[in-house]
Amino acid sequence: MANPGFAITLAIVVITTFITYSEGSPRAFFVFGDSLVDNGNNNFLATTARADSPPYGVDYPTHRPTGRFSNGLNIADLISKQLGADPTLPYLDPALDGDKLLVGANFASAGIGILNDTGIQFVNILRIYDQLDLFQQYQQRVSALIGAEQTTRLVNGALVLITLGGNDYVNNYFLTPISVRQLQYNIQDYSHVVITEYNKILTRLHDLGARRVLVTGTGPLGCVPAELALWSSNGECANELQQASKIFNPLLVQMTTRLNQQLSSDIFVAVNAMELQNDFIDKPKEFGFVTSKIACCGQGPYNGLGLCTTASNLCTNRDEYAFWDAFHPTEKANKIIVKTIFTGSNKYMSPMNLSTIMAIDSL
Ligand SMILES: *[C@@H]1O[C@H](CO)[C@@H](O)[C@H](O)[C@H]1NC(C)=O
Ligand SMILES: *[C@@H]1O[C@H](CO)[C@@H](O)[C@H](O)[C@H]1NC(C)=O
Repeated sequence: MANPGFAITLAIVVITTFITYSEGSPRAFFVFGDSLVDNGNNNFLATTARADSPPYGVDYPTHRPTGRFSNGLNIADLISKQLGADPTLPYLDPALDGDKLLVGANFASAGIGILNDTGIQFVNILRIYDQLDLFQQYQQRVSALIGAEQTTRLVNGALVLITLGGNDYVNNYFLTPISVRQLQYNIQDYSHVVITEYNKILTRLHDLGARRVLVTGTGPLGCVPAELALWSSNGECANELQQASKIFNPLLVQMTTRLNQQLSSDIFVAVNAMELQNDFIDKPKEFGFVTSKIACCGQGPYNGLGLCTTASNLCTNRDEYAFWDAFHPTEKANKIIVKTIFTGSNKYMSPMNLSTIMAIDSL
């Protein structure tokens, strides 16, 4: 006659070996946003916004394309690494199941923006409200594994990254010489509209349980090789797009500061991506780059025209370039960005850098 107590103990041991969520695990990490942080969700979608063929991923550990818009690791991967965690799997990847869910998930989808009409040309992508709906679905799945209370703890204790905004300019307002949005708004008013919508998205993220959220602004949009190819004759950054970034980043800091005041807690941490990337775009040599103007992979002026494919020019040493393709940084540039997120001063990080947050949260 079997000992029922033993059977129950055994059952518990089996369950806990399958699903290990313990105090010792690195905090969960959730990622939302666009191509700067997409880890491969678009591979599972019928869209033209994808990075799943060579030479994307040439410097990834597997040396194969993964859907990341980088030669190697992206910003989300490098943050995971710092947290001591595995890279977040794309939420649409069937491999994201069971205890892998407890590491977190990546909901980002290349081409999307803050506004629902941004990136409509890419058709079938996960717009930000779709990403938030999937985050809710994720929590239901995790609840079935570890219970509702533990799930709330996991989500409240997690670090969240949201990277949006660039496409609202590049793939919306400035997509065509005269766009619907330009007829509606000047750049100042448009930026206020975009920030108001971003505020709603962040509020929803908070409602869904996020309690530490890195919110990145737009980089110097006028300096990316794609825009240099269109507008620049001797390497100067495109003025209107630079204006857009100069307006957007301070508005983002203001907006997140106000939200934190309303919530009486430093939930949102704004990353001034313009200031941050200006450092290595203005003084590439100080960061070990030979150029911050020419993309490693591409064709045409500044290698900024068209897509990065096997037919493109490809640089031999990716670490010497700030830009991998016409829009996206190299892994080396992503490392500089993530280093500043962890250790940067208030010029870049508001109200504080991620090292300080991690120290506070571990108390
Ligand atoms: C964007 O789409 C979401 C979900 O479909 C909707 O709730 C929201 O109101 C839309 N935003 C605007 C400004 O239309
Ligand atoms: C982070 O920010 C704080 C406060 O601004 C600063 O004192 C510190 O040097 C920064 N770097 C690290 C690694 O904490």
